[in-house]
Amino acid sequence: MRLNKNSYLIMGIETSCDETSVAIVKNGREILANIIASQIDLHKKFGGVVPEEASRKHVELINPVIQEALTSAGVSFDDLDGIGVSYGPGLVGALLVGVMTAKSLAYAKGIKLVGVNHVEAHMYANFLEYPWLEFPLICLVVSGGHSQIVYLAGHGEYELIGTTRDDAAGEAFDKVARVLNLGYPGGPAIDKLAREGNPKAIELPRARLKNDPYGFSFSGLKTAVLNYVNRCEQKGEKVHLPDLAASFQQAVIDVLVNNTVLAAKNYNVKTILLAGGVAVNSQLRSEMKEKAQAEGIGVLYPSPILCTDNAAMVACLAYYKMRQGKFAPWSLNATARLPLGKDLY
Ligand code: KG4
Ligand code: ZN
Repeated sequence: MRLNKNSYLIMGIETSCDETSVAIVKNGREILANIIASQIDLHKKFGGVVPEEASRKHVELINPVIQEALTSAGVSFDDLDGIGVSYGPGLVGALLVGVMTAKSLAYAKGIKLVGVNHVEAHMYANFLEYPWLEFPLICLVVSGGHSQIVYLAGHGEYELIGTTRDDAAGEAFDKVARVLNLGYPGGPAIDKLAREGNPKAIELPRARLKNDPYGFSFSGLKTAVLNYVNRCEQKGEKVHLPDLAASFQQAVIDVLVNNTVLAAKNYNVKTILLAGGVAVNSQLRSEMKEKAQAEGIGVLYPSPILCTDNAAMVACLAYYKMRQGKFAPWSLNATARLPLGKDLY
């Protein structure tokens, strides 16, 4: 069934990792509220997200965050046309909180339910800000859990053309930051420190994968950083943190930019999108623009608050899915390993 309406008001719910977020978005582009309760302070002391702690915190936060979103948007449940929720991929216990809440509310209030893929929602953060975007597109999705190059032929029509063999880009930032005692999450800390360092100071590897021109591997780079730190310690030398941060960041960015621009060229695509938490990185944004522009390719990325986990991107994707009549059944369940472009319900 396709809906024929001119205006859709959608609530997005996001609990796949360590942010409890609820948004109210009109027509997939007008953000009336985007409330994000971050659990960073809770997980900081452990140096990463503790799944059980994350689920408990979501349970505590979800109702007040929903209430705050409705109040700040100035709407009630009766005004909503749909509730969109991330049902995967992510931490299963964390996802369950959002999924169960969305299902209960939608059932009780008689509202349409839409199941959303979290990685796909990251890509759709771009449609929030650039609703005029035209296909085909190439999107680099780089977050704490994913590093993927996706070819988008149309809404819901994707081809995953590159992915990581081991760590995600954000995971590499977080792990290297932990080795350097920069705290959690590592991306923002390394981004900041790298601005004072020389990206050519320390030679680090860039993985090029045989027969996989768009694929990534960051574990060798992470080990090289660890070895460098250990060698310095053995020699009694002090590690120059800004230089190491800049050299590491440059190694990650070189591969991300190279593979993404190559994909856009080979697939004859004129616009590259960036998405996910690592897309906040200032150097990645500027280098991607520079290298793509040299090939006549444009680059777009969402504002930082829409790159990291948020529910506005979930509501945005739910809007496009609703327009295609893609509703979820009441059996919708949290799916930790949900693949891209395929709903599992
Ligand atoms: O998209 P996101 O909020 O959550 C996931 O779905 O994983 O991404 C979080 C990741 C973390 O690994 C964090 O270190 C990274 O994004 N990140 C950054 C920056 N800001 C956040 N990485 C590099 N540079 C940044 N400025
Ligand atoms: Zn995410």
